[in-house]
Amino acid sequence: MVSLPVLLSLALLPFVAAQDHSLDIEAIEAHFTQSHIVPDFLTSFTPSALLDLNYAGVGNVTPGQALTIKQVSAAPTLTVTPANSSVSFSGTYTLAMLDAETVGSTLPDGVNRHWLVNGVEVTGSTVTIAGGNAITPYAGPGPAAGSGPHRYVVALYTQPSTFTAPAAFSKPLGVSRMDFNAYVKDSGLGPLVAANYIDVEEGTATISIAPTSAVVTSTLLPASSSGSSGTHAASTTGSSASATGTAKSGAPTLSKFSPLAAALAGLFIFIVA
Ligand SMILES: *[C@@H]1O[C@H](CO)[C@@H](O)[C@H](O)[C@H]1NC(C)=O
Repeated sequence: MVSLPVLLSLALLPFVAAQDHSLDIEAIEAHFTQSHIVPDFLTSFTPSALLDLNYAGVGNVTPGQALTIKQVSAAPTLTVTPANSSVSFSGTYTLAMLDAETVGSTLPDGVNRHWLVNGVEVTGSTVTIAGGNAITPYAGPGPAAGSGPHRYVVALYTQPSTFTAPAAFSKPLGVSRMDFNAYVKDSGLGPLVAANYIDVEEGTATISIAPTSAVVTSTLLPASSSGSSGTHAASTTGSSASATGTAKSGAPTLSKFSPLAAALAGLFIFIVA
C-alpha cells in the first residue's frame, strides 16, 4: 500500500526541493576546477547562481559540452537560476564570453573576447541582453584547426552603479585579445555571479593537451540537507577537455534523488497523512 504515497512524493519532490541548488553550485565549481579554468583563467569561482546556455538546435548545454563551430555560430539564450531562495537578482550586469583556450594554457597575452555586453538586465531568471550596450556583439567561437579543444567561458558579472567602461572598451569592437581580469578590476565589475563553459574544437589536435578527470556529481556532498530538483543542466556529469576531445558530448543527466529517498519521502507523507 506504499505505492500511492510513493507516487505522490515523486510528484511533489520537485516542488519541495526546487529552491536549493547547492549541489548544482558545487558541481559547476568542480567543473571549473577540473577543466583548469580555475586557475588558468579565473583565480577563483564561487558563483551564487547557475547560468544555462541554450543554443538553438542543441538546447541547454552541460558544462564543458563539446560543440561544433556551427552549433555555436549564433548567440545562445541565457537563464539564471539562483543558488537558493535567499539569492535573487535584479538590475544591471555585464556579460562576456572569453576563449580560455586549451587546458593548461597560461594565457600570458590575455584571452580573446567573443562577447561583451554592458548593461544586461537580469530579472528573476530572465537575462535580457537586447537592451544592453554591446561592445562586442556575439561572435561565435572559431578556434584554429588542430589547436585542440578551447574552453569558452560565458560569465555574468554584477555591474555596480560605479561601473565605468575603460576608454579602450567603451565603443564597439570586434574579437580581440584583452586582459579580461584587469578589465573587471579596473572597471569595478563584480562579483562574478554565474558562469558556464563549452568546448569547441576544430579538426584534430596536433598538440598534446593534458587530460582532465570527469566531474562525478554523485560524489559531491550537499552543502545543506536538502537537494535540488535534479533537472538542471549544471547537475550533470561530463568530462572536461581530453587529448582527443571525443569524450565530452551529451553527458547524461544525473538525478540526485535515489528511489530510496523517494520511497522514504513517500513513507513520511504516508505517516503524516
Ligand atoms: C544560498 O546560496 C549562497 C550562494 O551560493 C550561499 O552563500 C548561501 O549560504 C546559501 N544560503 C542558504 C540558506 O543555503
